[in-house]
Amino acid sequence: MEVPIALPAAGENARFVIEETPLLLCNAEGTPFIVRDECPHVRTSMQGGLLKGTILECPLHGGKMVGRVGAPIAMPIRRAGQCFPVRIQGEGLQVGMPTRSG
Ligand code: FES
Repeated sequence: MEVPIALPAAGENARFVIEETPLLLCNAEGTPFIVRDECPHVRTSMQGGLLKGTILECPLHGGKMVGRVGAPIAMPIRRAGQCFPVRIQGEGLQVGMPTRSG
């Protein structure tokens, strides 16, 4: 699906929603990645969190995860975040959303 926002500046992130799923588009030094915009700790938005390379830091309690794979690397985040495939398509970006069953 088409990402409805432009890639933010390097080191920045921006929130958007597709099919009621909050997503965070991150710019890791020119390479985009997308995670569910819901911290694995207490499910708050991670928008505005510090981004160093692919390490995303939650703005609420400072937990960290590897954004491209969602792996937790600093407490209090203990569970993995949900990541989505992203690709460059022309001037924009596309995100791979899971198919809904049932
Ligand atoms: S809500 Fe993200 S680390 Fe606590």
